[in-house]
Amino acid sequence: MTDDPRVLSGIQPSGESMQLGNYLGAVRNWVTMQDGYEAYYCVVDLHSITLEAPEPAVLTQRTRIVAAQLLAAGLDPDRCTLFVQSHLPEHPQLSWVLECITGFGEASRMTQFKDKSARAGAERQGVGLFTYPILQAADILLYQANYVPIGEDQRQHLELTRDLAKRFNARYGQAFTIPDAHIGKDAAKILDLQDPSAKMSKSRPSAGTVYLSEEPAAITRKIKRAVTDADGEIRYDPEHKPGLSNLMAILAEFGSTNVQQIEKDFSGQGYGALKAATADAVVEFAQPFAARTKELLTDPAELDRILAKGAAKARQTAGRTVADVYKRVGFLPPSNLES
Ligand code: TRP
Repeated sequence: MTDDPRVLSGIQPSGESMQLGNYLGAVRNWVTMQDGYEAYYCVVDLHSITLEAPEPAVLTQRTRIVAAQLLAAGLDPDRCTLFVQSHLPEHPQLSWVLECITGFGEASRMTQFKDKSARAGAERQGVGLFTYPILQAADILLYQANYVPIGEDQRQHLELTRDLAKRFNARYGQAFTIPDAHIGKDAAKILDLQDPSAKMSKSRPSAGTVYLSEEPAAITRKIKRAVTDADGEIRYDPEHKPGLSNLMAILAEFGSTNVQQIEKDFSGQGYGALKAATADAVVEFAQPFAARTKELLTDPAELDRILAKGAAKARQTAGRTVADVYKRVGFLPPSNLES
């Protein structure tokens, strides 16, 4: 334990690979925050059965894949606590108490719940989708996180977390740190290559989404087919030239340069040259990343050991919070048979 401020964030094991937008928008920031913060990073597998639960073996495999990819991206188990949510019963234990202080109307106002349940039909949806944000609040409050690195889309869930923490503290005393959102200043918002009005996302058709474990040829093809515009000028203008500006942002991130420099470097050249350079820069990052991920996945027992150590570390903090909360609520402490 240190005096550094704490951060906690979570990622769902929802696909076969992390996508580029996820890496640039969030995970890269997690890597940076290992220094100067006491960092907790959680693979939120409990959250992954709230919509359509994947096949059991698929869920298991996806959990290992995300963990391997986070390590490949630069998370270091010696400098952060990387763990799997379902390894700690403390998450649902705290979630239950928080559910009991959440208003039904309050939970009903969560826009992600409204969107997701509308898509599937609210009547057919499991209650877990409804309580999803409360479990997320438990993820955060268990670790007394000061900061939560998240994207804009998670702001409302963090607001709920803050409200619940304040409500509990007011009623039972200071059990929880009130967390703040940490929206990284260089957290790039990467757009869909086929539809630059939308964020790049796993839940969209894959032609506009680049996965970091894809073959170089597939990555290159997707970038070369990215939607741009007809005026032919290489100029960073997200409002009028969203597709091209998105490619420039990607090149800036992976090529360690900036959009002003790219405008200069490519002035007078066609979009083809910019696309080729962007594809090369992404492949240069993605190739060793995919190789490292694959290597980690060839030894699942070692990966599981890393995650078990992470869970043991996480438990020191989470266990303390649950014990304190349960005591404050007045649950009869189980007596110790040994004493
Ligand atoms: N809901 C988050 C997302 O979809 C994932 C998540 C779960 C999370 N628990 C969390 C993020 C705790 C931050 C902190 O991205």
